[in-house]
Amino acid sequence: MSKELFAQRLKASMEKQHMKQIDLVRAAETRGIKLGKSHVSQYVSGKTLPRADVLHFLADALHTDPDWLSGMNGSETAAEAQMEPKAQNGQAPAPDKPADIQKNSNPGGKTMRTFKKSSKLDNVLYDVRGPVVEEANRMEEEGTNVLKLNIGNPAPFGFRTPDEVIYDMRQQLTDCEGYSAAKGLFAARKAIMQYAQLKNIPNVTINDIYTGNGVSELINLCMSALLDTGDEILIPSPDYPLWTACATLAGGTAVHYICDEQSEWYPDIDDIKKKITDRTKAIVLINPNNPTGALYPREVLQKIVDVAREHQLIIFSDEIYDRLVMDGEEHVSIASLAPDLFCVTFSGLSKSHMIAGFRIGWMILSGNKRHVKDYIEGLNMLSNMRLCSNVPAQSIVQTALGGHQSVKDYIVPGGRIYEQREFIYKALTDIPGVTAVKPKAAFYIFPKLDTKKFNIVNDEQFALDLLREKKILIIHGGGFNWKQPDHFRVVYLPRIEILEKAATKIGDFLSTYQQQI
Ligand SMILES: Cc1ncc(COP(=O)(O)O)c(C=O)c1O
Repeated sequence: MSKELFAQRLKASMEKQHMKQIDLVRAAETRGIKLGKSHVSQYVSGKTLPRADVLHFLADALHTDPDWLSGMNGSETAAEAQMEPKAQNGQAPAPDKPADIQKNSNPGGKTMRTFKKSSKLDNVLYDVRGPVVEEANRMEEEGTNVLKLNIGNPAPFGFRTPDEVIYDMRQQLTDCEGYSAAKGLFAARKAIMQYAQLKNIPNVTINDIYTGNGVSELINLCMSALLDTGDEILIPSPDYPLWTACATLAGGTAVHYICDEQSEWYPDIDDIKKKITDRTKAIVLINPNNPTGALYPREVLQKIVDVAREHQLIIFSDEIYDRLVMDGEEHVSIASLAPDLFCVTFSGLSKSHMIAGFRIGWMILSGNKRHVKDYIEGLNMLSNMRLCSNVPAQSIVQTALGGHQSVKDYIVPGGRIYEQREFIYKALTDIPGVTAVKPKAAFYIFPKLDTKKFNIVNDEQFALDLLREKKILIIHGGGFNWKQPDHFRVVYLPRIEILEKAATKIGDFLSTYQQQI
């Protein structure tokens, strides 16, 4: 690529987007990309060219095409050279912001379409695999070893699928070549129905059970079938961000209610009540909770049922961690307390059977279905449209839900999850400036940082600084729709030796950390 051509196009694009050099430096900083003022001024004056990742960042920040910006698409041809004066006059084909299709030049002098993501994604956030994670991936590509405490994926940390599950899937594999019924195999759904009976979930027939490619697919399906533009849905803050993302993508408005750290991270009922309007259609619960590890007692669930009853809300309850409850506590399905309301309960095998990669989850419709016939028709349409969920994974639901539950060995004293929880809770809360509520379930902890002590105003920056300095990847609280910059989530699936190293490094890091603003 030619330095001069690149410099001209960069300047033209900056002018078009009303961005100064400092704006690019700041944008790079928030995305964790190393870009100093001196670099930008060298690019602009045609002295040097950027690395590929910086080029892509610049193109993205300036809403233009990286090939065009670099001059790669024909910079050496006469036709391309003729385009240069245009670029110098600020007429470069750098796209306008909202346009979804733009024209750029190519070697033949013809115009070429570029494609932008849909504006429906503008407000969608999913930082569990977001910019901090991208930076970690970049570091790994350069050969740096990063300790990833960012995603609740048990298998890479040595949690093995029960042998019986693998054996049974192998046995049935050749019977699973075709599509199944859209909602799933009869045997799988029957086993889920019996599971619902054990959890006292009322009024569930086999037709009320839908299998999905993980709970994730079903969350998306439920939100798409329910929400019209302007419809509101109550979602916890902090949340598992897929809920907010899917509600937003469906055109709805996610209204976040507070879960109160002072009260064991339980939902704040007054806050829920305050946030209900005549557009509120539903309330989402994540119980046991990701990212806090909280488990809601019956009394709290009863209060939520009362509010839902008063305002005729649908209850969506994400209970994927219901078999990962410690300290002898009992998980109560909210649907069991609400026979007169319409509830959708989600669960699956990703966490309890350590088979997140197999992609199998389900949802159970329960309670009063008289007034939701049309919504259920919508669910059926979407379920039919995706044909079915992964059939080999469905084939082992019955095996997984029956008999010995090996997950139980992990969550009692001496078990890995239990002992790792004990360790991480103590190790993190021993660090000056860090406090935490002890998690009761799942495998996450959501510690609080003393923002004054560390001068933290931007939690994503904190995550990036920790990543760059100590090679530890955690997700900042903002990634879970938590509005203050004072929390982060740690996945405590690694073995204690590794958690020990991680906690020591976090302690070292915080012993001197002062966020630079
Ligand atoms: C609360 C919660 N719900 C749903 C999911 C997605 O689960 P699945 O693997 O079944 O799609 C996760 C995954 O981490 C989760 O934490």
